[in-house]
Amino acid sequence: MRIGLLGFGVVGRGVYDLTAGRQDMTVAKVVCLEDVTLPDAQVTKNFQDVITDDSIDTIVEAMGGLHPAYEFVKAAIEAGKNIVTSNKALVCTFYDELIPLAKEKGVCFRCTAAVGGGIGWLSELERARRMQTIEQVGGIMNGTCNYILDSMTRLGLGYDEALKQAQQLGYAEANPTTDVEGIDTWHKVILSSNIAFGVSLDKETVPVAGISQIKASDIANFTEKGYVCKLISTGKCKDGNISAYVQPTLVKQGQPESAVPANYNLITFVGSASDRMSFYGQGAGRYPTAYNVVQDCADVLLGRGFYSPYGEKTATNNTDTLRYYVSGVSDAWLAENTDERWNDAVITKPVSVSQIHAWRKNNPNAFIAAFAEG
Ligand SMILES: NC(=O)c1ccc[n+]([C@@H]2O[C@H](COP(=O)([O-])OP(=O)(O)OC[C@H]3O[C@@H](n4cnc5c(N)ncnc54)[C@H](OP(=O)(O)O)[C@@H]3O)[C@@H](O)[C@H]2O)c1
Repeated sequence: MRIGLLGFGVVGRGVYDLTAGRQDMTVAKVVCLEDVTLPDAQVTKNFQDVITDDSIDTIVEAMGGLHPAYEFVKAAIEAGKNIVTSNKALVCTFYDELIPLAKEKGVCFRCTAAVGGGIGWLSELERARRMQTIEQVGGIMNGTCNYILDSMTRLGLGYDEALKQAQQLGYAEANPTTDVEGIDTWHKVILSSNIAFGVSLDKETVPVAGISQIKASDIANFTEKGYVCKLISTGKCKDGNISAYVQPTLVKQGQPESAVPANYNLITFVGSASDRMSFYGQGAGRYPTAYNVVQDCADVLLGRGFYSPYGEKTATNNTDTLRYYVSGVSDAWLAENTDERWNDAVITKPVSVSQIHAWRKNNPNAFIAAFAEG
């Protein structure tokens, strides 16, 4: 395999290092905007140098962002090159275009590192669904949020302090919005559900609530009552109905999710034969992530194209009812649906997931957290 590597940052550099010296694959060209000299690969600032090189059969996209990643990946598929990417935003946003195009052109399209970084989650999901019906996917999919929530819970830090620490350690971006508002997790649960259930979820119907409104007083309430708050994604398929959402969730102390420390991930599927199967590990980092990118390249060599058949556009049906913890806002709807109070916060009666997320849209200062099922 001769690889054209797009981007030479955290992941790209890792891919270059992990493929060095391998007999079965070589990074032949690297598209990099900086002036870098590499002993074993030609470096160029011009993507055309890669796309027009017929000796390159596989593109590894590690630039991130939507543009020009989308234009480059699309052009590469049209030129008959396999794609391996770690870019969840790209795959999730252009799923309905890029996956069918790759199928039409007969090239492989893999993105294992896009969900869970170093955890072989999507590739195992691919194997899992060959044998059984997948009923549920989800869990803790964002290391930045987990780091913040864990630091607030175990070390007693305030939200701003915990975020600053995550930024200093390189776990959070200078602009943390995508992580703390749950968008990164949203991309990941949509991709996971698409593969697990063989659909293309209508993204507009997957609600998301993040952690940016949480306060130390909320954490104190949870600790007092024996709960730990985590940002948890859920994708469920029952009798053809799919529900999918991302929200802060209260898990009982002692449950596996409650014990996930620092920036780790814990992702789970429930299958009709295997039952519950969980994956724990580093959701990010140069070598863990590059490891999964190179694993995907090895799978391309074995002809493993994509994880599941491309599925048609499907809307979710988020009618599950859950109890919620709500703080920061009070209004008539909340008063009507109040079951009990925890200091200044409200515990609701069971309300549907779609109902409370619609309410939260009009009350963006509210912090909501669902009580975990079961
Ligand atoms: N880092 C992780 O642990 C991790 C884990 C899982 C998934 N991912 C995903 O992997 C992707 C890459 O992440 P990363 O952390 O490696 O990002 P990064 O360190 O910012 O690296 C991206 C590199 O691509 C370069 N680039 C941007 N536009 C380019 C262009 N038009 N042509 C050539 N190079 C260009 C950037 O150059 P400049 O800096 O000059 O703009 C940068 O060097 C993202 O989609 C991310 O979500 C990352």
